[in-house]
This record gives sequence, C-alpha cells and structure tokens, in this order.
Amino acid sequence: MHSCPTSFSGNYEGEVADFWSRSFSGLRPGQRVLDLCCGNGPLAELMFRSKSAHGVRYDGVDLAQVNPLWLGTLADADRPQFAFHGGVAAEALPFADASFDLVISQFGLEYTDLERTMQELGRVLKGTGRVALVVHHAASRTVQLARDEVTHLQWLLGRDGLIDQTRLLVPCVARSATEAGRRALATDAAANALRTRFNAVQQELSARASRASCPDPLHEAREAIAVLLEATARGGEAEGLRRLEGLAAELQDSLHRLIALCRCALDEAGIGRLARQLGRGQPAEVSALRAQGHLMAWGLALNP
Ligand SMILES: C[S@@+](CC[C@H](N)C(=O)[O-])C[C@H]1O[C@@H](n2cnc3c(N)ncnc32)[C@H](O)[C@@H]1O
Repeated sequence: MHSCPTSFSGNYEGEVADFWSRSFSGLRPGQRVLDLCCGNGPLAELMFRSKSAHGVRYDGVDLAQVNPLWLGTLADADRPQFAFHGGVAAEALPFADASFDLVISQFGLEYTDLERTMQELGRVLKGTGRVALVVHHAASRTVQLARDEVTHLQWLLGRDGLIDQTRLLVPCVARSATEAGRRALATDAAANALRTRFNAVQQELSARASRASCPDPLHEAREAIAVLLEATARGGEAEGLRRLEGLAAELQDSLHRLIALCRCALDEAGIGRLARQLGRGQPAEVSALRAQGHLMAWGLALNP
C-alpha cells in the first residue's frame, strides 16, 4: 500500500548501480547466472538493459510466486534466456552441483537461513564461479526509514490509534447518511465524544507526520480512511467495517515486512561473518554502497 523500501523498483543509482554493472560486465555468452530471492527480477531486467546478458542464461528463484511483467516487453527471441522459479527456497535449490558462473542476490539472501543457503550456494556455484550480493546494511538509509515506518505503523494499529478510533466512528458515520440520523447524532453525547476523540487522533497524526523522516504510512492511512468514511456514508456500516479490516490487514502486512527487513540487516560483524563463509578461506570483498549521499547497502563480491 505505501512506499515500502524493501524492494528496488529499477531506480539504480550511485554505487549500487556501479556494483551491478561491474558484476555483470564479465559475463560471456553461454554462462549461467542464478539470482537468489529474485522477486520479480529487477536484477534480471537490469542485466538485460545493461546489454551484459547476451547469450547468458538467467535463473531466478524465490519462495513467493513471482510475476515478472517486464518479461512481456521483451522481444520473443530474448525471453527464453530468462527462467523464473517461484515457490523455491534458496535453502534447497533444484539445480545440479557446479551449474552457475555467477550467483547474485539483492536484498534477498539475508532473509533466508544463511547457514543452509550458503551451503547450497557453494554447491551450485562452479569452482571458478563468482558471487555478487547486495545486502541490507543495519545503518543504511533504507533501514533507518524502515525503523521510522515501523513506529508509525505500530501507532496506527495500536490501542486507541487511528484504526481503533475509526472502528468506533464508522457506525456514527453510517447513521449520518439520512436526515433523521444526522438530527439524532447532533444530540448524541457519546457520538460527539467519539468524533472529538477521532479529531484528536487526526491531530496527533499530523504532529507525528511533521516530525517523521518517513511519514508515508501516516499520510496514506489518513487518505485511505477519508475514502473509507465516504464509502461508509454511502454504503453503510458493514461496508465501512469491511474496508477498515482490509486496510488494517495491509498495514499489518507492511509492519511485518518492515520488521523482517530491520531484523535481517547486517552490521559490520554480520557482514564479516558472511564474507568469510562465502570466501572459502579468502574472505569475499566487502564494500559499503552509497547513493545520493546516503548509505544504501553492503556489497559483497567473490571473484576467484
Ligand atoms: C526484499 S525482496 C527482494 C526482491 C528482489 N531481489 C529485489 O531486488 O527487489 C526479498 C525477497 O526474498 C524472498 N525470500 C524470502 N525468503 C526466501 C527464501 N528462504 N528463499 C527464497 N526466497 C526468499 C521474498 O519472497 C522476496 O521476494
């Protein structure tokens, strides 16, 4: 629903863009690339658009069912080089040993059981194979924003937050659909108290938004609730409550995803451990990637 920072949308800039362009530049026709936790394949698209993918076979795996719509924009001749495997765990890869020349992942591998995934990665990578990973950095801008968003979502969904107050207000708004209902509401002290409380929560929301570094969930929830209350006035209480529960579920989902993002982000010690695990004796190369003046991620590269 809101601008969840967990997934790249194709706006590659700065050192993240440079990292991927370096990683793809050595590819040769006939080589195979594996993308772990590929989502809808932003890396595959980047590789294709950077013209590095000529003759390369790409396989992307993700636990979720993926739907890379951008594939539909490719010429018929270009599509067969990309294969997406939804419902596949990075911890149990359906590929033969020593199959891939390059294994990549962007904001994905760190969500998995690292021990098991690294074992699988090592199994399917050729002895001469390379690895390039972009991993959440515990001090990155993305993680900072996610932490801020978590506090807003917890407030929205918490006791006496905007969702709770809206749930109480919906029956009053439904009654305001008729002239008689409006007259009754005007003298209903309990309904007036609910409206006063709702307005106070809206003011609290504005105050929070003015202090927030990532106020998106607050603004978006406010807009969604305005639309929902209009729908309640037209369609009645049941319609209002149905929409409210849908909104609450979306917010809850965002909250879970953002908490997962913050939990899986790696600090210096965590990325050091991963680099040693990946390097088989000689640690993989670690860099902190920046874009637009912000720390964005760790880059991890193994080039034997
Ligand atoms: C933040 S998204 C990143 C997607 C994509 N790599 C990108 O750059 O936009 C994380 C992805 O990891 C996938 N994922 C999480 N755990 C996984 C696992 N154990 N095995 C495979 N995929 C997993 C999720 O389904 C999700 O698509």
